Amino acid sequence: MRRFVCWFSILSLLIITTSSTSMADEGLWLPFLLEQHNQTRMQEMGMQISADDIYALNQSSMKDAIVLFGRGCTGSIVSDQGLLFTNHHCGFGSIRNHSTVENNYLDEGFWATNLKEELPNPGLTITLLKQMEEVTDSILKGVEPGMTEAQRDAMIKNNSERISKNAQKNSPYNAIVRAFYNGNQFYLIYTETFRDIRLVGTPPYSIGKFGGSTDNWMWPRHTGDFAVFRIYANAENQPADYSEENIPYKPAYHLPISLKGVSEGDFTLVYGYPGRTSVYLPSQAVELIAEATNPHKVRLRQQRLDVFDKYMQADPQIRIQYASKDAGVANGWKKMIGESNGVRRLDAINKKASQETAFVEWVHAGDENRKALYAGLLPSFEESYASLAPYALATDYMNEAGRAIELIGFASQFRFLYEASQEKDVSEAYIQSLIKRYEQRTESFFKDYHEPIDRGVAQKLLQLYLDYIPPDLRPAFVNEINLKYRGNIEAFVDALFTKSMFTNKNQILEFLSSYKPRHARRLLRDPAYSAANDISILYETRIKETRQRLTTSIDSLQRIYMAGLIEMHEGSYLYPDANFTLRASYGLVEGYSPADAVEYDYYTTLGGIMEKEDPNNYDYIVDNKLRQLFLNSDYGDYADDDGKMRVAFVASNHTTGGSSGSPVMNADGHLAGINFDRGWEATMSDLMYDPIQGRNIAVDVRYVLFVMDKLAGASHLIKE
Ligand code: ARG
Ligand code: ASP
Repeated sequence: MRRFVCWFSILSLLIITTSSTSMADEGLWLPFLLEQHNQTRMQEMGMQISADDIYALNQSSMKDAIVLFGRGCTGSIVSDQGLLFTNHHCGFGSIRNHSTVENNYLDEGFWATNLKEELPNPGLTITLLKQMEEVTDSILKGVEPGMTEAQRDAMIKNNSERISKNAQKNSPYNAIVRAFYNGNQFYLIYTETFRDIRLVGTPPYSIGKFGGSTDNWMWPRHTGDFAVFRIYANAENQPADYSEENIPYKPAYHLPISLKGVSEGDFTLVYGYPGRTSVYLPSQAVELIAEATNPHKVRLRQQRLDVFDKYMQADPQIRIQYASKDAGVANGWKKMIGESNGVRRLDAINKKASQETAFVEWVHAGDENRKALYAGLLPSFEESYASLAPYALATDYMNEAGRAIELIGFASQFRFLYEASQEKDVSEAYIQSLIKRYEQRTESFFKDYHEPIDRGVAQKLLQLYLDYIPPDLRPAFVNEINLKYRGNIEAFVDALFTKSMFTNKNQILEFLSSYKPRHARRLLRDPAYSAANDISILYETRIKETRQRLTTSIDSLQRIYMAGLIEMHEGSYLYPDANFTLRASYGLVEGYSPADAVEYDYYTTLGGIMEKEDPNNYDYIVDNKLRQLFLNSDYGDYADDDGKMRVAFVASNHTTGGSSGSPVMNADGHLAGINFDRGWEATMSDLMYDPIQGRNIAVDVRYVLFVMDKLAGASHLIKE
């Protein structure tokens, strides 16, 4: 008996520990509600700090060190001089803008040796959250049950504007109202936006993008995906436009950095600005995304990537020209493949359907009021999504097939000029200012344009347009292929590219240099402009109205469904979908099993970089100095206890696009890594999170410091 009891308790202990090490917690939590909803669980999982350390209003807290970087990433402040860590891929645009053939920071990296050398980035901003308060009651004031969706929207818009204007009057900060839970809750958010953000340093491409698109969205990963910026402020520590007089910003808080590294099972906190998730969608929506729009977009992008690839392989010049486009197209392509696969693996559509069945049962178990509110919901979803499907696809093709032909995409930008030229009393000065902008755009378009690629892409995309979209939802020029060219796509493409001026930089610059509003007509005669115009006409006449009507009704159904779900789960707290507001997610450092018989460890090392090295593949080149440091095991204080240099690790934090650049904190609230991606098996987490295989990927902060210190010699920054 004793023996039995003993085994029993060991067994239950095992079950508890294994379940606690593989049970990730889904959720993108509101930081000011952590104490109420999450703190106990977080501390159970190992967190040593309190919710107050993460978000507090009357004293400085971790939140004062977390920024929205640009418009779609996160960054964290790591020194009292406004030094900022984010991802290389988040700073990519800025790094590229500073790169020239002589100073190729993209390929060689860049490190400012003092403040004077730090490089300004016009247009780049960072935003800090100051405060957030719920204003749902005031926003919904005047909203009545019988109102149409448009009336409701107008009322909410009015209230929002009034409330944010009032708030702004009494505050030095910006104040905006944001909707949560599909418009069921509203928060007033105070923010401060800094406009003088300078590039301090970046590793070379061979580190910052090691593995390129091949390793992207994948574990095991060896990318040193980080870059360093600094926030500048005026003498009063306030946001200011760029000026030489500006000085480094003094933050209310900056993150302490840990050199201890992470071990399996360690608590982690990701704190940042996740962009968009849609975890409460009904099954029909998930099906539309995973089984219809994703596969179509994937097929279209696949064609583009194949053509890019062929030319990029053959010519290093083209490889540079198309590197950024290729990475962008490939990033979405791979994400969508992973997402659709993940939805199937999780059986997400059926799981959603059974949640809906439970919802219907709950509705019918309720009073008349509940039934009146929610009973018709699911059939309406079904109907709306079925009607939306062809229009959603047609819109995707407009963008992913029509405007994805660079020539047509470029020509479509001239619509603004055309429209400005139609204005009755448009001033000469205004037109001239537009011309200036178009001249710049023309220069930058042709810097990275290779016509044979675009012709190849056009042929492939137009073929798919003809194959998959019915004539009444195709732009006129696509139908012309059959009507005028007897289905000969090649002949059509040849005519398009030969006759359009948009393939020829000098011709456009000439057109612009002598441009008068009355010349706008000439745009209409250009086949590429006219194709772009056909796309707009298609949208205006065939798609827009129906699509807007359906999405408006879907939005309203989703809002009501969300309200129903909240009511149904009364007593447990549902987190709101991501909406580019500050969120915390927590999990554990842990590897995973992506497939039968395959186990992934939770960290990678510099040795793995050497294994992947391929001098003939741009994405797998290893920096010479890095190789030397590896051969000498010269890692300074940055090695792990086993003497190895760790590069990246995975943990089970719920993240999404926008979480890139977020700090990954350890149990003490110290910086342990910088988040930059998700594993392939986690990409469907925007629709449904999988605690078993969902992992976020971070670069180990010790690798970041190692590269800055040992490789770049930026010891002044390490001291800072
Ligand atoms: N997949 C990551 C994200 O969505 C990283 C993208 C940048 N890296 C790349 N090789 N394209 O942002
Ligand atoms: N790579 C993404 C980003 O840039 C992060 C993710 O989707 O997991 O935000």
